[in-house]
Amino acid sequence: MLPSLCTFLSAAAVLTATVHALPQDGSGFGSSIYSTTSSFAVASASSTASAAASTSTGACNNSPDLCGRTYNNVTHMGAHDAAFLRDESTSNSIAGNQYYNATVALDTGLRLLQAQVHDLNGVIELCHTSCSLLDAGPLEAWLGDIKSWMDDNPNEVVTLLIVNSDSKDVAEFGSVFSSSGIDTYGYTPSGSGWPTLQEMITANTRLVTFVASISANTEYPYLLNEFDHVFETAYDVTSLSGFNCTLDRPSSQASAGAAVAAGLLPLMNHFKYDLLAASIEVPDADNIGTTNSPLTSTAGNLGLHAQTCGDEWGTKPTFVLVDFFNEGPAVATADNMNGIEAVGRSTIADTTVAVATSAAATPPPRSSGMGTGALVAFLVATLVLV
Ligand SMILES: *[C@@H]1O[C@H](CO)[C@@H](O)[C@H](O)[C@H]1NC(C)=O
Ligand SMILES: *[C@@H]1O[C@H](CO)[C@@H](O)[C@H](O)[C@H]1NC(C)=O
Ligand SMILES: *[C@@H]1O[C@H](CO)[C@@H](O)[C@H](O)[C@H]1NC(C)=O
Repeated sequence: MLPSLCTFLSAAAVLTATVHALPQDGSGFGSSIYSTTSSFAVASASSTASAAASTSTGACNNSPDLCGRTYNNVTHMGAHDAAFLRDESTSNSIAGNQYYNATVALDTGLRLLQAQVHDLNGVIELCHTSCSLLDAGPLEAWLGDIKSWMDDNPNEVVTLLIVNSDSKDVAEFGSVFSSSGIDTYGYTPSGSGWPTLQEMITANTRLVTFVASISANTEYPYLLNEFDHVFETAYDVTSLSGFNCTLDRPSSQASAGAAVAAGLLPLMNHFKYDLLAASIEVPDADNIGTTNSPLTSTAGNLGLHAQTCGDEWGTKPTFVLVDFFNEGPAVATADNMNGIEAVGRSTIADTTVAVATSAAATPPPRSSGMGTGALVAFLVATLVLV
């Protein structure tokens, strides 16, 4: 969740990091960047099998205990910038926030996917700050992948949070949602409180979509203006002790307590940036073991932040956003908040094996087309603007 200025600074940071991190031997992205990563240890066939199993056991969002729970009384773990990957498809781009894509996120238990979209010649495109930095393709294709997953997993309730960076009209989103086919799952609030997961599953309205920001339109009643329904904690955290539970947005609410009382659902942002220089920030992968840990013992732990916010608000976070979701793994904290033992879920083996050797051999980023010279030029331009 990054508004334009911060996003722009982050992009500058990303580019700076890219430039700084080029290894001395010129072999491409080196192990200094990619000090930790994970190996994907689950075949899609087994994911499908286990997902089917979750249906047959009567589980909702990976637990029978959640079926009767209202949507707002479940903690939904989410991938921040879910479409922006550091994987082979981007040559492990330093601009990526996640090691695994949305399908893997869903397979491994995440139920919230956050994305940022821009206008690219009239198309709503998944771009990280700028389409020349990292272009993850059209929103429609990404929605199509999520729709396919939902088709295959009929007992699962999924939430999207889309940052409308170029203020596209609600009708343009509506058009993409309907051409991808995912609009059929769109949930429209009734105005009388949130239903249970089972009610949403039975009605087959299993997709909640928040957009920041759009003007609500009765023709697309399932496209919800985020800050009519959700409040957030700070998104720009640069130290492990910097996570707190204070309301950051919307400014129309005086405090988190006021927002909870007004019925807004709490979203806890929990991703950390590294400060390389004044106003230059990069996503912090080095501390990710601490940041995404379900433990409650150390400053910066996801578990500690969630517990603290739950205590402070008198209600658990409904939504949580993390980077590199497979680390921790982040979903363990949602399970703890929900008090469940998950069933029918794939897992990713967490390892510290670097993939830098193979990364160095992979071709340039799929769609950025930006060489080092262009990166430097872009960066200089950015710094001038800053
Ligand atoms: C939330 O769910 C828990 C566990 O089922 C339940 O004890 C609690 O009363 C629920 N809270 C609300 C506000 O419904
Ligand atoms: C997501 O990633 C998995 C594992 O790397 C891969 O098998 C799958 O094809 C990807 N899905 C999409 C839609 O790209
Ligand atoms: C909450 O955290 C943010 C980010 O670290 C910080 O900017 C803000 O000042 C903090 N608020 C309080 C009340 O501590």
